[in-house]
Amino acid sequence: MINQSPINSNGNPQVTATLARRAKKGRLNIIGVSSGYHDSACCLLQDGVLVAAVQEERFSRVKNDRSFPTRAFAYCLREGGITIADVDCIAYYEDPVLKLGRQIWMSFMPNLPVERRESILDRMAATPPPQMIRDVWGYEGRVEILDHHLSHSASTYYFSGFNEAAILTVDGVGDWATTTYGSGKGPHIERFEQVDFPDSLGFFYSAITGYLGFEVNEGEYKVMGLAPYGEPEYVDQIRKLVEITSEGQYRLNMKYFGFLTEDCMYTQELVALLGRPPREPESELTQYHMDVACSAQVVLEEIMLEKTRYLHSKFPSDNLCMAGGVALNVVANGRCLREGPYKRLFVQPAAGDAGGSVGAAAMAYVRVTGEPPLVKSLEHVYLGPANSVSEAYKLLKASSAKFQDFRGKEEELIKFTVDQLIQGKVIGWSQGRMEFGPRALGARSILADPRRLEMRDRINALVKMREAFRPFAPAVLESEAQNHFDLHHASPFMLETCDVISSIDLPAITHIDGSARVQTVNAKTNPRFAALLEEFYRRTDCPIILNTSFNLRGEPIVCTPIDAILCFTASQIDLLVLEDFVLDRSGIPPFWEVTSLRVKGDPNQIVEHSVYTLL
Ligand SMILES: [Fe+2]
Repeated sequence: MINQSPINSNGNPQVTATLARRAKKGRLNIIGVSSGYHDSACCLLQDGVLVAAVQEERFSRVKNDRSFPTRAFAYCLREGGITIADVDCIAYYEDPVLKLGRQIWMSFMPNLPVERRESILDRMAATPPPQMIRDVWGYEGRVEILDHHLSHSASTYYFSGFNEAAILTVDGVGDWATTTYGSGKGPHIERFEQVDFPDSLGFFYSAITGYLGFEVNEGEYKVMGLAPYGEPEYVDQIRKLVEITSEGQYRLNMKYFGFLTEDCMYTQELVALLGRPPREPESELTQYHMDVACSAQVVLEEIMLEKTRYLHSKFPSDNLCMAGGVALNVVANGRCLREGPYKRLFVQPAAGDAGGSVGAAAMAYVRVTGEPPLVKSLEHVYLGPANSVSEAYKLLKASSAKFQDFRGKEEELIKFTVDQLIQGKVIGWSQGRMEFGPRALGARSILADPRRLEMRDRINALVKMREAFRPFAPAVLESEAQNHFDLHHASPFMLETCDVISSIDLPAITHIDGSARVQTVNAKTNPRFAALLEEFYRRTDCPIILNTSFNLRGEPIVCTPIDAILCFTASQIDLLVLEDFVLDRSGIPPFWEVTSLRVKGDPNQIVEHSVYTLL
């Protein structure tokens, strides 16, 4: 059994004591960092409270940006009102030495093509992020290195509100582990078993994602969304990809997987097994593709269910905490909760590697103080930058946009916006602090009337340009949720699917199997969004609004007022509600159209510069 906390094996005891003293005075600043593989991010844990967290992609505008998160770091310092001199500890979310071991192992694979070996060697030769914390940021203080899956474990357990829980982490790969089984009790996290690379449920699902013509590490949601359209016709074949072995273990049948030696996740053996060629990206989706997606989803759910039962046998508890990219498969989670032994489930909203930064910071806090971070349960993820109202005003004013100014008139703003929703308008809604994690939860959202069937196609045509089969999600007033969905607790992070039981016809947010991925909203965590839902409810008897992320296809969710205006301009969204200002399409000045075209044509253009010259 590996005891993962709270002993700090790396830290200098004197420094630890000093930090513990500072923590008692309430001035402990810990930065968490994830970087280098997928979705880099930074967070700030200040006096044990998570005060800021953001992905680098939101600043760089590169989707899933994995580069060293300098802009996210700068934001966290700004948000905390501190400088780098005030940072007591920087916690990095994975161990580069362990990771290097895996990379060396991979570089020795027989029959490895030269280009593939060179690519691995290039990655091995890159400066490890903990060194970049010194070299690039010039930070001379304490750096804590965490194990990748320990960061995932901490990111969920310490923010769950549970005093004890079983912990399951499942992803593609961290350093070596791909799945871990553990428990949390008070401030202690223990891991008692792990599955190591190359056996990986994340890569199993990614291989099917690639075979179905979707982008690996991005299109897994699409496979999950496609699955209900299909039948499990290929379950027998797909079961051959993963052998369930004893205890928590499983084995991938590597003859079907190409990720060790090729640039492709799957091999021709998989193509032969399924009997049809892989789908070309963007080509037509047929019933066959839906059946394969359904079969893969069924197999994943079977394994997840069995392994959660196993975890319960090792650590009986009513509570389960999950993180890692596979934990974003909300359909599998729902089945584990319904059919498995646990009564309560908490999934870290940023379950992927971005959330590792939060777990790393939390674990470092525990090591310093011996106490868990000061959170009872994570109530919201509005942890990113706030819109600057004055910046938004100056941008609109300086560019001669025609807009309505509702400053000091929030009630009128809400009424006006609801009027527009009822009229069938698609609305870009950018308010307050941005969400951390992959979901838009009413801070950087596109909103529409869920009762109108045409909204799904309209939003896809206007802005998302995405596959028509993918469902949109509902935001619902928390107090009304159980009257419309088979859901008996709050679901603030859109991480659960449940059946739609509403007497209202909700075609725009109801998936083909009668389910929806629900976000519950209350006035405590997002008062303006709750007020919008209340007014919509008052006017229509429907306390539900369609909510999808505010971004163009392939782009990160908008962050700043400039991003919101450019996305509004480049799309065909009807109306932009940016803080207290409302802009319709007739108010867009030609300047914005030119700018958005320039940005789209050349992603390297530094648009902020040209825009700010106006101010
Ligand atoms: Fe991970």
